[in-house]
Amino acid sequence: MKFPENFEMVFNRRLIFGKNKIQEIPGILNWYNKKKVLFVTFSSQFSTYNELSELLKASGLEVVPYEVKTEPSLQTIDHGRDIYMEENCDCTIALGGGSVIDAAKVIGMLAVNGGDTEDYQMRGRAVTVEPPLFIAIPTTSGTGAEATKTSVVINNNNHLKKSLYHNTMIADVVVLDPALTLTLPPAITAATGMDALSHAIESFVSLNATPLTEMYGLKAIELVNENLEKAYSNPDDVDARAGMMLASYLGGCAITAGIGIAHIMAQPLGGEYGIPHGDACSIFLPASIRLNSEYAEEKYVKISHAMGVGDSSLSNKENIEHLLDRIKQLQKAIHAPSCLKPYMKEEPEMDYLIDVIKRTTGHITCNPKPLTEELMKEAYEMAMKED
Ligand SMILES: NC(=O)c1ccc[n+]([C@@H]2O[C@H](COP(=O)([O-])OP(=O)(O)OC[C@H]3O[C@@H](n4cnc5c(N)ncnc54)[C@H](O)[C@@H]3O)[C@@H](O)[C@H]2O)c1
Ligand SMILES: [Fe+2]
Repeated sequence: MKFPENFEMVFNRRLIFGKNKIQEIPGILNWYNKKKVLFVTFSSQFSTYNELSELLKASGLEVVPYEVKTEPSLQTIDHGRDIYMEENCDCTIALGGGSVIDAAKVIGMLAVNGGDTEDYQMRGRAVTVEPPLFIAIPTTSGTGAEATKTSVVINNNNHLKKSLYHNTMIADVVVLDPALTLTLPPAITAATGMDALSHAIESFVSLNATPLTEMYGLKAIELVNENLEKAYSNPDDVDARAGMMLASYLGGCAITAGIGIAHIMAQPLGGEYGIPHGDACSIFLPASIRLNSEYAEEKYVKISHAMGVGDSSLSNKENIEHLLDRIKQLQKAIHAPSCLKPYMKEEPEMDYLIDVIKRTTGHITCNPKPLTEELMKEAYEMAMKED
């Protein structure tokens, strides 16, 4: 059998796609008999935030705003939990990128389970109570956080960027409106798009890939290939935005199969050096393909076809070179980074970096090439090389 004997996936209960579909949210909350929403967003100036707040109030709901401006820390989330509880909220909405969605995901969970974020992130505390209703509305196209049960949090106590997760933390309802990403600046379009591509590629070659995750991953790769450059160079191209929003969502579904060496490096080092998550993924994606190529050759050939550069008359190795060239070309076209060096002020202690990786993502075992310190060092060396 070419896929694991046992596997499971967790899905949203409801997915609503289309223009202006946020208008359905008040009706959904009323149906669930909700009264007071903690409304998490990246900026209360965002026009859709104001529009949806007004719609919610007009239908009799109370709205408590909470801003999450950057990739969330323990304190950001714990503070949000305090507000949720002080205000007696009974549901959560996230309108924003992965940072906002991840923060809201944990806030609701903490509000009913008790404790601090760090208890679940570092001390293995178990989620025992189902979180309140959670509606996620992404405004970036990259993390797919609306489709996952995971939240990635920066721990300021030990400086680790680490995940926490539970099956019940996944959003109950997701609203995908591509128009919400029209205001994304090109650099964020590029970075988040590379994150979506990394999810799709890493999950597709993962040792835990299943026919389901492969299906989501391959479609996500095709959509990124068709739409990322268009969305970058013409931010108003709503069709390209739609393609990227779906790619991000499908990548989030696919990533259930687990992350590989690109994310194993990008998540902790992104946290360590303050690199936006998508940029960190962009830097490590080519190295991941080179390092894994002999361990997942045929899969990478399939990916080269999905990226439009596969040629059946060529060898597997030649197709993989075409794939790497295509990714390099894409990075250049959207000005996505391919080198770690500019983000580092000084050459780090390798032992320290390895320790950081080991304590965050170092337990992951589904990368095609077995994860060793040597592999981490090789990925690092490759990512430090300039083109
Ligand atoms: N939970 C998961 O499954 C998962 C997966 C991958 C990454 N992540 C995490 O998600 C976080 C990154 O999320 P992200 O890449 O979506 O970026 P983000 O949420 O940090 O947003 C990036 C920037 O874009 C701005 N922004 C967002 N939407 C906008 C819009 N429509 N118009 C204008 N500006 C907008 C935000 O204010 C922010 O400054 C990281 O912490 C990463 O580790 C989570
Ligand atoms: Fe990611």
